[in-house]
Amino acid sequence: MYRRVLITGANGMLGQELVRQMGRIPTYDILATSRQNAPLFDGGSCGYLPMDIGDMKAVSAAFQDFSPDTVINCAAMTEVDACETDRDICWQINAKAVENLGRLCHKTGTHLIQVSTDFIFDGLTGPYKEQDRPNPLSYYGRSKLAGENGARQAGPDQWAIARTVLVFGTGENLSRSNFVLWVVDALSKGETIRVVTDQFRSPTYAPDLANGIERLVRFKKNGIYHISGRETLSVYDIAIQTADVFGLDKSLIERTDSMQFKQRALRPPRTGFLILKAETELGYKPHSLKDALADLSRRLKLQTSDRL
Ligand SMILES: NC(=O)c1ccc[n+]([C@@H]2O[C@H](COP(=O)([O-])OP(=O)(O)OC[C@H]3O[C@@H](n4cnc5c(N)ncnc54)[C@H](OP(=O)(O)O)[C@@H]3O)[C@@H](O)[C@H]2O)c1
Repeated sequence: MYRRVLITGANGMLGQELVRQMGRIPTYDILATSRQNAPLFDGGSCGYLPMDIGDMKAVSAAFQDFSPDTVINCAAMTEVDACETDRDICWQINAKAVENLGRLCHKTGTHLIQVSTDFIFDGLTGPYKEQDRPNPLSYYGRSKLAGENGARQAGPDQWAIARTVLVFGTGENLSRSNFVLWVVDALSKGETIRVVTDQFRSPTYAPDLANGIERLVRFKKNGIYHISGRETLSVYDIAIQTADVFGLDKSLIERTDSMQFKQRALRPPRTGFLILKAETELGYKPHSLKDALADLSRRLKLQTSDRL
């Protein structure tokens, strides 16, 4: 039987990865949606519709025309520091629009998967399991936590929340970079970078995350799932492993800490996730960080040779 899946924020890193993976599975009929007039990627046979998740008229029309069985909400304001200053826009997209989406899913009997973040935690006691108590430090974290609660409007058994951590990967014409690509880019140009030693994360390879989310769709799961890489390490160590795997000069990576490296929004010191629930209930098996970085390196080389 076909499953009709509507993906929001499909031009983003995770959205593109979901379209790439799920578009290859013949039992899914995918409608990719994002803010831009056209897809920023080669979507193969999947459909595309420009849609702002804050525009309820457009969202309702898409539900009426496509009649999705499942919605995967990847659309979000993801710049953590910008969320601290542009609070209204951040709340509209990350909280209010998700609540509206939840209500619409409830009305239409649609399964909603909301993507959320480790930044809903304060980072004092990571790595975290699903039942741990949220306590966001930043406005981004607060808005994403409100988005989680909004998604529950879809009704009992109709929602799943996929929380994730420091996602890295690639895509076509992405509007934002990510930590690993930033490290690779800077070191490749011979630039020195400063990276914090006192923040800990479990870095997540975007294709692994997309695979975990596809499993939530396939098994029509309900509830919260932590879907990240398995290893929790300092952001500095993530940069060092990146340099190692990409064969770049790691002496260009300088140590710093959160006291010296001030950012507008507070970052939780130690997050990272325990992923036992996703492993046992979904059969989720992420790459090791080293293998994920090696795979990314191969994909980036292929992208470059395709462009030549
Ligand atoms: N990346 C991470 O490290 C990370 C970590 C934890 C959780 N997450 C969560 O994972 C999800 C996917 O993030 P990502 O890494 O794929 O981020 P991303 O690359 O920034 O993708 C987000 C996409 O959402 C789109 N978008 C923003 N506002 C929208 C709106 N009102 N209507 C429709 N589309 C809109 C963006 O379009 P524009 O480019 O036009 O703004 C962008 O294409 C988000 O929920 C994020 O909170 C990400």
